[in-house]
Amino acid sequence: MAVKTTHAVGVDIGGTGIKGGIVDLEQGTLISDRIKVDTPAGARPKDVLAAVKQVLETLGVTEDKMPLGVAFPAIIKNGRTLSAANVSNEWVGFEAEKFFEVGLGRDIHFANDADVAGVAEVRYGAAKGKQGLVLLTTLGTGIGTAMIHNGMLIPNSELGHLQRARHKKDAEAWTAYSAMERDKLTWKKWAKRLQWYYNYLEFLFSPDLFVIGGGVSKHADEFVPLLDLQTPIVPAVHRNNAGIIGAAALAGD
Ligand code: BGC
Repeated sequence: MAVKTTHAVGVDIGGTGIKGGIVDLEQGTLISDRIKVDTPAGARPKDVLAAVKQVLETLGVTEDKMPLGVAFPAIIKNGRTLSAANVSNEWVGFEAEKFFEVGLGRDIHFANDADVAGVAEVRYGAAKGKQGLVLLTTLGTGIGTAMIHNGMLIPNSELGHLQRARHKKDAEAWTAYSAMERDKLTWKKWAKRLQWYYNYLEFLFSPDLFVIGGGVSKHADEFVPLLDLQTPIVPAVHRNNAGIIGAAALAGD
């Protein structure tokens, strides 16, 4: 008889920080401290691997006793990273899953950071049981997106890279939380940029629900009421832990 996995480890690699924790897969909650280290400058593979090791050591989970999920901010296809928006270009076309497995001496489950956050919110959070199309957007260093239809993830949607014709730039360069910080915007001014972005997503996809993830989702009260949309829009329940929880959940499957 197969033994059901009840706990798994999730590590969420972001453009700014690398976060990890042990997750109860029944509840979808963290049962350890949330460990965070800065993403090493330049985010090169060997430095990121060293930082992930540090997170696992601090959690006391260097052995292979629980499944380990690792989330990364890039397109991920068959274990390879195919893009590098806020990390070193060395990741483009890189056998990243194998690199982590060799470096950590164990199997991992490797997936896009926004996709795993979407899985966490659909299984345990703001989009639980939601039918139709859910679009989760993480507003952080970049914009990550997860597209989930009737509970099924359609991976690597990358809608942070929709083009803003007026600026000939990616949407995330104008609209991510890092753009608000960089351009020292008030909530109101930032909300105008978000209004453009979510209207564009509405027009293209006619979603049934938007979920806002990323660290700034804890300030949702400051900007969500300023948005005028047809689609309901709610903050992620697991906020900045959704990546850790979703990575662990996929690893536990
Ligand atoms: C990357 C995505 C990632 C997002 C959030 C984007 O720049 O292209 O893969 O999900 O940032 O980290």
